[in-house]
Amino acid sequence: MSLTVEFRKVTKSFGPVQVLHGVSFAFEPGRTYGLLGENGAGKSTLMKILAGYLEPSGGEVLVDGAPRHFRNSREAEAAGIVLIHQEFNLAEDLTIAQNIFLGHEKKRGLLLDDDTMRREAAQVLRQVGLQASPDTRVRQLIVAEKQLVEIAKALARQARLLVMDEPTATLTPGETQRLFAVMAQLKAEGVTLVYISHKLDEVEKVTDEVVVMRDGRFVTRQPTASLTRHEMANLMVGRELSDLFPPKDPPPETPPLLQVRGFRVPGWAEDVSFEVRAGEILGFAGLVGAGRTELFEGLLGLRPGEGELQVDGKRLQLRNPGEAANEGITYLSEDRKGKGLHVDFGLRQNLTLMNLHAYAQPWLNPAREQQALKEAVQSFGIRTGDLEQRASALSGGNQQKLALAKVLQPKPRVVVLDEPTRGVDVGAKRDIYFLVQRLAREGQAVIVISSELVELIGLCHRVAVMRAGRLAATLDQAGLTEEDLIAHATGTR
Ligand SMILES: Nc1ncnc2c1ncn2[C@@H]1O[C@H](COP(=O)(O)OP(=O)(O)OP(=O)(O)O)[C@@H](O)[C@H]1O
Ligand SMILES: [Mg+2]
Repeated sequence: MSLTVEFRKVTKSFGPVQVLHGVSFAFEPGRTYGLLGENGAGKSTLMKILAGYLEPSGGEVLVDGAPRHFRNSREAEAAGIVLIHQEFNLAEDLTIAQNIFLGHEKKRGLLLDDDTMRREAAQVLRQVGLQASPDTRVRQLIVAEKQLVEIAKALARQARLLVMDEPTATLTPGETQRLFAVMAQLKAEGVTLVYISHKLDEVEKVTDEVVVMRDGRFVTRQPTASLTRHEMANLMVGRELSDLFPPKDPPPETPPLLQVRGFRVPGWAEDVSFEVRAGEILGFAGLVGAGRTELFEGLLGLRPGEGELQVDGKRLQLRNPGEAANEGITYLSEDRKGKGLHVDFGLRQNLTLMNLHAYAQPWLNPAREQQALKEAVQSFGIRTGDLEQRASALSGGNQQKLALAKVLQPKPRVVVLDEPTRGVDVGAKRDIYFLVQRLAREGQAVIVISSELVELIGLCHRVAVMRAGRLAATLDQAGLTEEDLIAHATGTR
């Protein structure tokens, strides 16, 4: 049932840029591996080679001792190797069941066997704990649900080696627990598992061994139990990491810059009131589905909403993010691929899209755009071999940094960051935390929506907790503990 994979001197170049430099190591059968490395280290690239999505430039991949060369993912899947992508790979206009069997349709004679596919889809959906009909169109699902469909799709493929590339980035703690249960079950059946994640506590919990990559090279493979999280992080970055969070500044005593009164987003949020001062970092905690993202989408005109919104005493009625940006409010969407970036555009176009007029004098000045891109790459630590490439060529975490650079281009007064460190490595997380503090110190009002409680506690002056569309509590620094946040988010207090 299980299978061994060995990489021998695998290299990969994209055009002139080499991203894998002779990677050699093995995955032993039936074990669960954590694959660790900074953003851009080459984790996804190596796994895409294994699963037939990319061709290696050199070296070879051995499966059960024999060299294999998969020309596409179907050949790899036929050999039992399945990859769950970091970026979703779903057809939005098809149903869940159609997606699960896409390219592997069940037939009865010449006809599609819809009944069987629907029934088997329902079964894997139950296994991952997604309560949705197999007939639902993927477009109608929220991000976390799409992730569960990806996992269900992999389960239906009967993998012998399953690679999960950041599967829990968008999941709630409950959904994550369920995924771990599914993983334990697969492991018991002898499936080899590869788990890519920047959440080191999860890696610690679910893996037998970790493999660390750095700069396109294999660094080490060690039993998970022999390493602390701190040691894992140091191995990833290749140096000793200091404190993740900047020391907190005292809360500012300026008057409120952003004021929200009795705001309502139909179906998502009711009667929400809060304020943020210039120089203040306000966190938003809550379970997935509590309405945090939808509240801010309503405030910024991305979906219908009503109520009072004031910036610096001026009442606003925003109809779209462009108007919001004109009023000095910017928003980093949690849905990086859908709403954050135009992945098929170049880095430069992405960066300057929100602030084009600043580069037009009167027509676009490519030299100034280029300069801005160079500065952003520098100050946000975006790892890219080539400034001329498309955003889609950046690793997941580096796309996140580009998205962040993009929303901060217009020098806003109010910044709303929805899951700003999703998919970002520890070193880059630290950079983002320090950046958030710098924004606050420059006098901006910063709102951080996050599912990582540690992050909210480490970074924010106050944290607002939403539950089922309402503000359940607003805690100030003194009252900030994980237990309290969870208690308010779940309503057990
Ligand atoms: N299609 C592509 N064209 C050009 N460069 C690419 C392409 N895909 C990946 N790269 C580059 O290869 C390097 C490794 O990327 P990869 O996605 O494997 O990193 P990763 O370890 O998965 O990072 P993350 O933690 O951010 O997901 C990065 O520098 C990335 O920019
Ligand atoms: Mg990746």
